[in-house]
Amino acid sequence: MKKKLIAGNWKMNGSAASNEALIQALLAQSSGWNCLVAVCVPAAYLAQVRGLTQGTGIELGSQDVSAQESGAFTGEISAAMLKDFGTRYAIVGHSERRQYHGETDAVVASKAQRALAAGITPIVCVGETLAEREAGRTEEVVKRQLAAVIHANGHCISEIVVAYEPVWAIGTGKTATPEMAQQVHGVLRSQLRAATEHADRVHILYGGSMNAANASQLLSQPDIDGGLIGGAALKAPDFLTIIAAAG
Ligand code: 13P
Repeated sequence: MKKKLIAGNWKMNGSAASNEALIQALLAQSSGWNCLVAVCVPAAYLAQVRGLTQGTGIELGSQDVSAQESGAFTGEISAAMLKDFGTRYAIVGHSERRQYHGETDAVVASKAQRALAAGITPIVCVGETLAEREAGRTEEVVKRQLAAVIHANGHCISEIVVAYEPVWAIGTGKTATPEMAQQVHGVLRSQLRAATEHADRVHILYGGSMNAANASQLLSQPDIDGGLIGGAALKAPDFLTIIAAAG
């Protein structure tokens, strides 16, 4: 069975001092880890966190990647640049970027393509809003979001990570029940199976108020292969408890 993947998404949090303290606290407890661990840090801190994590059990991730290859795109960071910093993962299509930066399914698919071309694993986020869930549209929405990425990346789709993050559960303390999450993960697995014979290799992460108290129940579901953790990834004891639950 594949190891689970526990990825922290620090979002726009941290400082040079607090990053160092957090990474040191995680590394101090890293000897018995039995899962893959990553931290997706603000771009400004990639170099710092690379220095702290290189050669350890913590992989480095970014929170975004440009859909462009290079050139006159002020403020953008290319996949090749991220690769230069030893970035192993890049989150693409997080709901906060879809919502606040107008990222469409097509843009997200291009970002996934750029990451893959540079040898970076895109963590492709999908998830429905509360209104979409209440309208019974959850499956339709997540399948549409994933279909765009499959369409653009069919030949290497088994190289991606998928993160199911119901928008209504992000940062709200409201978690999908393990059964609700598993139901959607099962839908996503079937969609991947239709696209590749290697669908079982793909990590499908759950994200949305995953914490030290609910992680083990969520992670025991058959199609929940790990977590994408926001708030709880900023506190070493909580993140360590989640890592232990995945082991
Ligand atoms: P929270 O764990 O803070 O709900 O955030 C989840 C998330 O958006 C991870 O990408």
